[in-house]
Amino acid sequence: MTNQGLLTKRIGILTSGGDCPGLNAVVRAVVKASRLKGWDVYGIPYGTDGFVDIARGKYQPEELILTRHGYNLPGLLKGLDVLQFLSGSVLGSLSRGHPDQPNLTEDILQGYKILGLDALIVVGGDGSLDLIYDLVERGNWNIIAVPKTIDNDVPFTELAVGFTTAVDIVTQALYDLTFTAASHERVMIVQVMGRDAGHLALHAGIAGGADVILIPELTPLINAPVVAGCCQQLSHLRSQGRQFALIVICEGVRNEQGAKEKYIGDYLAEKIEAFCENLCITNPEYCYLNAMDVRCTNLGHLQRSRPPLALDRLLATLYGIKAVELIAEGEYDQVVVWQEGQVQSLELKPIIDIIRQCHQDNICPNPVDTQGFMVKTARSLGIYLVSA
Ligand code: F6P
Repeated sequence: MTNQGLLTKRIGILTSGGDCPGLNAVVRAVVKASRLKGWDVYGIPYGTDGFVDIARGKYQPEELILTRHGYNLPGLLKGLDVLQFLSGSVLGSLSRGHPDQPNLTEDILQGYKILGLDALIVVGGDGSLDLIYDLVERGNWNIIAVPKTIDNDVPFTELAVGFTTAVDIVTQALYDLTFTAASHERVMIVQVMGRDAGHLALHAGIAGGADVILIPELTPLINAPVVAGCCQQLSHLRSQGRQFALIVICEGVRNEQGAKEKYIGDYLAEKIEAFCENLCITNPEYCYLNAMDVRCTNLGHLQRSRPPLALDRLLATLYGIKAVELIAEGEYDQVVVWQEGQVQSLELKPIIDIIRQCHQDNICPNPVDTQGFMVKTARSLGIYLVSA
């Protein structure tokens, strides 16, 4: 049963995939705007798993209605709506696909039906949207997608929720590491998230003063010429009087065999050390490089868990409001995007087709533009970006 034709609506919202700063700000915007319209918003716990739990009786639909509960503080702060300030997802998120169990799919579809939703807002990255779209097609769901990911690799949007805060976190980490690197005349390698895309490493590397940035779009793997190139840059810095260096490496860069390494930063550190050791034997004038300590810091999930900065709060809020507006107009199967300084919406299905094709071909749906101004800027600053 749906409420089509009636003024009031019943909408669902879920967050799916890895969490990131700003998810709660999307939820808050959707809840506030919907409350003003007199709609009910159901918060689906833990992505599509929540539908399974609804179908299996773990939750009663009424307890999931966010528009009735709210997230206000009590006492002197009564009325203060804190949701937009918090990181993580108040709904919980699901960062694994569903195993191919027909029962599970049936339960998800059943859970959706029980709620009688007019529309569902899915806050997710390219992986989640690909998976959930299967259900959308099978269940004939009305969906609005809101892109989020610190990797910023959702196509057709310049910004996904979470990205700008993650850039700030990594930039701050580079700043912090600069002083310990300088104190010990060390090479600091910083491993940054970005499963297949180097946006985060590139943006933060520029903003944080990196000397070398390695991203999969330009440096798909660490081979001997890449290591030699990094060492040349270290040598060049030395000749300019710099006694320390910062190298940013995106986790999507692979090892010499083209395989993923969990700790690609440590892998690079070992390669640099081995290269410098050999260089010292054959060319003693380079022994000073061998004397430099190399250390690696893997920033890991810290990159996802700070409260959203203003730009992410704003983007999340604009996206949430746009999603509600689209539902009010009966415009479904849309994704909200940021293009040319504005929130816009695009038809979702053609974008899902592109994402699916990219996943099938094992390529990133929204890689760094290697001819773009961001790469040009890095090079103009003298940052070493290796084209392998
Ligand atoms: O896609 C976002 C992301 O943060 C990637 O950058 C990273 O590789 C991945 O999620 C980590 O996922 P998990 O939280 O499952 O370890």
